Amino acid sequence: MIHFNGIENYLCGKTKFGVVPSRVDIDLTNVCNQNCFYCNSADFRGKYTVGGSTECYIDLIDKLSAWDNNTGSIREIVFTGGGEPTVHKDYHKVIEHCIDKNFTVQMITNGSKLHKLVDSLPEKKIKKIKWIGVDIDSAIPETYEAIRRSLTKRSLFNGVKESVKNATKRGFTIDIKSLLMAKNTSDVELQALFKFVKDTGANKLHIRPFCDYENNNVFEVTPQMQEKIENFSEEFNVPYTLNLARSEPRRYSRCHQMFLYPIFASNGDLYVCCEGRGRRKFVLGNWMKNDVRDLWFSQKHKEIYENTDVSLCPPCTPNKWNNKIQDLIDNNV
Ligand SMILES: C[S@@+](CC[C@H](N)C(=O)[O-])C[C@H]1O[C@@H](n2cnc3c(N)ncnc32)[C@H](O)[C@@H]1O
Ligand code: SF4
Ligand code: SF4
Repeated sequence: MIHFNGIENYLCGKTKFGVVPSRVDIDLTNVCNQNCFYCNSADFRGKYTVGGSTECYIDLIDKLSAWDNNTGSIREIVFTGGGEPTVHKDYHKVIEHCIDKNFTVQMITNGSKLHKLVDSLPEKKIKKIKWIGVDIDSAIPETYEAIRRSLTKRSLFNGVKESVKNATKRGFTIDIKSLLMAKNTSDVELQALFKFVKDTGANKLHIRPFCDYENNNVFEVTPQMQEKIENFSEEFNVPYTLNLARSEPRRYSRCHQMFLYPIFASNGDLYVCCEGRGRRKFVLGNWMKNDVRDLWFSQKHKEIYENTDVSLCPPCTPNKWNNKIQDLIDNNV
């Protein structure tokens, strides 16, 4: 969960100093063992097919743990990508180090090498992992492959299902994730998704619409579809969350998310936009060569914030937070 920590006071000039972010996003690698047709980081992955070294992530986490002042401190680390985080050879060790430094952890993954973490993490540390979201998009193997296009000899589908079962048995909190699109919203597809959650003992189904970046539009989840989803959830007795944040109208002209959380890409780029990997205008500096604490709230940071025209941005996940922060700013002056 994101804490705004009073960032609106800084953004509307009421306070001179900004607050320490409550969360950060870290990409462990740009390498991936799938090639999902919709992937928003495909170009970036193609250009920088790299992963950071284990040492540089351990060093980063130590720095984040010391990034603490009277405005707050970082509580949560989210591993996402870039590429597929579990492909990093030591991802499980990096996660354990976060836990040892008292961070809560979340991970967004295709689940393909989840077993490394599930098999190695000591029992008492499991609950420090708040949430693992496993993206499957479809619980029907043929559709799964049509969407996610595994780059391995055999489809990753069966292995992912087994890994999720083992993880939930050990007490990990796993959500099954799917981007809604024409390919996976028939009755049969939706039923299969809910059944997958039930069969694997996962916590819930987390769904949100697929964003078509080429045409800048978001798949429409109609009221009829929402009703169907609600009915299947009841039928299978499986909870779900439907995140329509991308579809909300924008009420802000500046992107406040840029001060909420930094994004550490695996090629060293430090981004202020979680959907802007590969776009130089969102790069604040190189976190592998410099200390993030010197880059965050720098003059350059303010300039990126002031010079970004959000009307040119695609529909994005932080939309909801941006709208909320705008409301706080509007009610603050
Ligand atoms: C780039 S992936 C990296 C993590 C991991 N490889 C995975 O697939 O879960 C991070 C997240 O971005 C989401 N994503 C990628 N392309 C998207 C798109 N076109 N529309 C909406 N979400 C997208 C994925 O569904 C995933 O949850
Ligand atoms: S598994 Fe994740 S990173 Fe890899 S192609 Fe799919 S969405 Fe992109
Ligand atoms: S895409 Fe979204 S998160 Fe990125 S700069 Fe634009 S509004 Fe902000």
